[in-house]
Amino acid sequence: MKKTYAVAIDGPSGAGKSTIARAVAGKFGFMYVDTGAIYRCVGLAALRAGVDKTDPEAVQQLLQSLQIELHHDGAGVQQMILNGENVSGQIRTPEVSLAASDFSALPAVRAFLLDMQRAFARRYSVIMDGRDIGTVVLPDADLKIFLTASSAERARRRFDELTAKGMNVDYETVLREQLARDAQDSGRAVAPLKAAQDAVIVDTTGKTLDESIALVLSVMEERLCL
Ligand code: DC
Repeated sequence: MKKTYAVAIDGPSGAGKSTIARAVAGKFGFMYVDTGAIYRCVGLAALRAGVDKTDPEAVQQLLQSLQIELHHDGAGVQQMILNGENVSGQIRTPEVSLAASDFSALPAVRAFLLDMQRAFARRYSVIMDGRDIGTVVLPDADLKIFLTASSAERARRRFDELTAKGMNVDYETVLREQLARDAQDSGRAVAPLKAAQDAVIVDTTGKTLDESIALVLSVMEERLCL
């Protein structure tokens, strides 16, 4: 029997990757790794330190100063520890979303985080979600899923998530920022957001969360013979 499995789930923001990946990871006892949260830690640290993304030396200095750890709480929710501080709540603001997208386009940042992401897959059965997991981080993953949904529906979900947390945002702004971030993530030169050639495309437009989870579960059961 195979010792560990690696499942890659890529797709644009708001497609439901993290919620679905967490749910299916729990079902199979796999470790869930939200790689976007790792890029968000870099974005938060850069904002705090006022680092200019066009200054390679400042970026390198920032990366050297970072200690990023990932813990899972009792409910299987990933907690991000940045230089000893739990920043899981602070990395979810619109400002950090944009900074994460900005800094994730830099080759130095991507190279810095690559080993960290691969190390998880060497040690555990993982479900890893991000933008380039199937194409760059885990090109030999046992299963690659590209999870997507229409822009309008993804923006609506993000809007609901932010307002539920008490944030004062309007739908049009959320949609505009999401489209800008999608364009930046898909258009960058290094490791752009795109479906791997051998990925299974799962479109969650018009589907409830439970329906989407059931769909991904059935793909995993079928492809991994679980
Ligand atoms: O999944 P997310 O919205 O939390 O990701 C935040 C940003 O990080 C996103 O705009 C793109 C970047 N990212 C990336 O470039 N590669 C990944 N594997 C995950 C995220």
